[in-house]
Amino acid sequence: MTTIGIIGAGEVGSQLARAAVAHGYHVVIANSRGPETLTHLVEELGPSARAATAADAAAAGDFVIIAVPLKPANDMPVEQLAGKIVLDTNNYMPWRDGHFPVVDSGEKTVHELRQEQLPTSKVAKAFTHIQAPRLFLSARPVGTPGRHALSVSSDHPEAVELVTRLYDAFGFDTVDNSPLSESWRSGPGQPAWISHTHQTRDQLAAHLAEARRIPYPTRG
Ligand SMILES: NC(=O)c1ccc[n+]([C@@H]2O[C@H](COP(=O)([O-])OP(=O)(O)OC[C@H]3O[C@@H](n4cnc5c(N)ncnc54)[C@H](OP(=O)(O)O)[C@@H]3O)[C@@H](O)[C@H]2O)c1
Repeated sequence: MTTIGIIGAGEVGSQLARAAVAHGYHVVIANSRGPETLTHLVEELGPSARAATAADAAAAGDFVIIAVPLKPANDMPVEQLAGKIVLDTNNYMPWRDGHFPVVDSGEKTVHELRQEQLPTSKVAKAFTHIQAPRLFLSARPVGTPGRHALSVSSDHPEAVELVTRLYDAFGFDTVDNSPLSESWRSGPGQPAWISHTHQTRDQLAAHLAEARRIPYPTRG
């Protein structure tokens, strides 16, 4: 049985936990306030899930999902994430998180910054251009015509492979938009982002190719 550590129990973290449990994974989930604040969520998720601290969720996961905005000062458990594949759902929202000048200038992507904060982990950008409720609403079995596709970006091929398998299990096709330096193509305001309600693999690949450098949204 594969265990997924999930750091972040908000809209995305909790919905990814529901999807993971529904597809037969074990989940260890954390927020910033402590496991005692996640009682209702783990009751809802059932016996395949438990709440923990972020460090314990990271340590318990065969791989780990970070569903937490990127902060300038690293607030993730680097040591417990060492050697692991880490899926990062973060979107760059300056109105929410403040500006990262190297991202604004196009020098780096937020996911390269996450990789720098977790140098001993294998970071992949995943699940960023789908709204949390659509993780169930848009899911379709493999082979369904017009199946919805999601992008993945990573500097590590094994992380791309893992995300591709996970997307497939959750009901989605994959377009590989690696490496992390290209991950801006699926960011807020880009065609792949705007078309988040539905895009097939071919449409998503075309949208990623159409992406152009634009200022990041200054408000939600
Ligand atoms: N909402 C969506 O549909 C969606 C879709 C795709 C991607 N995203 C992106 O995914 C990320 C999460 O979005 P969200 O909507 O789920 O946010 P959210 O509802 O605000 O939840 C954020 C979660 O992160 C936790 N957290 C913050 N700092 C933490 C830390 N240092 N350690 C452990 N947990 C911490 C918070 O815990 P506390 O509540 O205890 O502070 C909360 O559970 C964002 O970057 C967002 O842009 C969102």
